Amino acid sequence: MGNTGNEKEPVIPVSNIEVDSGMYYQVGDDDEDQSSGNSQSECVSLTSSITDYPFEHGRRYHKYAEGQYFLPNDETEQDRLDMHHHIFLKLLYGKLTLAPLDQYPPRRVLDVGCGTGIWALDMAELYPEAEIVGIDLSPIQPNLVLPNCRFEIDDAELEWTYPPNHFDFIHSRMLSSSIRDWVHYMGQIYKHLTPGGHVEIIEHALELGCDDNSYPADCPLSIYMITWKKALDIMGLANMPVKAKEYLEGAGFIDITEEIRHMPVGPWPKDPHLKEIGHWALVNTETSFEAYGLALFTRVLGMSAESARELCLGAQRDCGNRHIHVYLSNFFYLARKPYDINVDHPGGM
Ligand SMILES: C[S@@+](CC[C@H](N)C(=O)[O-])C[C@H]1O[C@@H](n2cnc3c(N)ncnc32)[C@H](O)[C@@H]1O
Repeated sequence: MGNTGNEKEPVIPVSNIEVDSGMYYQVGDDDEDQSSGNSQSECVSLTSSITDYPFEHGRRYHKYAEGQYFLPNDETEQDRLDMHHHIFLKLLYGKLTLAPLDQYPPRRVLDVGCGTGIWALDMAELYPEAEIVGIDLSPIQPNLVLPNCRFEIDDAELEWTYPPNHFDFIHSRMLSSSIRDWVHYMGQIYKHLTPGGHVEIIEHALELGCDDNSYPADCPLSIYMITWKKALDIMGLANMPVKAKEYLEGAGFIDITEEIRHMPVGPWPKDPHLKEIGHWALVNTETSFEAYGLALFTRVLGMSAESARELCLGAQRDCGNRHIHVYLSNFFYLARKPYDINVDHPGGM
């Protein structure tokens, strides 16, 4: 499997994460305030029509297919995405993917919505024989890259111009706020994967988990999550990961598996590995609530930037409250395109 490190992975302890009762917080401790409350894709070159970024309430957004995606693309957001990549590496004990790439070393890999390109670059280093392509709406990837890696500015929701049966692995991570038509998207992934090729879809839950009733229903964090989900619903973006398996099956994939890994928000778990993940996740919240919420709350719900920011700040403060023990579940879906009906279903169907 794609593995960048030597971390040994134990049997995963999921949910009912034990709280470290003796710990204290260094980041954002909030002890006093316990409940504070169908056209064709055209891969484009870098012209001002792509880099002439719009700014809104102090944040920078993508120009190509302007308005389509609600999160910023500025340095602050790029740092957050890179930090999140680090969290994913921790969640997977150093692996880049759960796909069985040791058995099936990839020759052509596509990373859809690649963000800063950090995953694609790690893959290019790990598989120097493979060709890695990353596509995104924003040209926020480095210019100097390994020779087997390239980035394209493109809209993944348009018809892909790659040949059918082309990639042997397609990776799609954290695109639930991006893709509107998942049926079409899964169909494209299926079409452009080689027979036998794998897809990995990774998405966050749309709600936070909590096992010890420490997450009050009326706290700002809870209100943020409800408000965010409402805006996603209005935009038709709230279907993933709820329907991921259905979408994969509908597209024709087989061998579909789902694995859930919980990301504690804050260093509250007793387990040292989860504590470290929780620490990074808490640092990530310093900009994540605003990244996910500011444009959605103002554009879709008509909130003022001031009240949207207030809600984001309240949510962040709750995450720094050591009495609130929440986690975000990450869903990892793996699936395979069948080789041939006779190979995959010997003896007939
Ligand atoms: C939350 S980020 C995730 C980035 C990356 N997958 C990662 O895991 O670090 C979502 C990315 O998808 C890109 N994106 C959103 N809609 C897209 C679309 N229709 N086509 C291509 N990229 C898109 C955004 O520009 C952003 O970089």
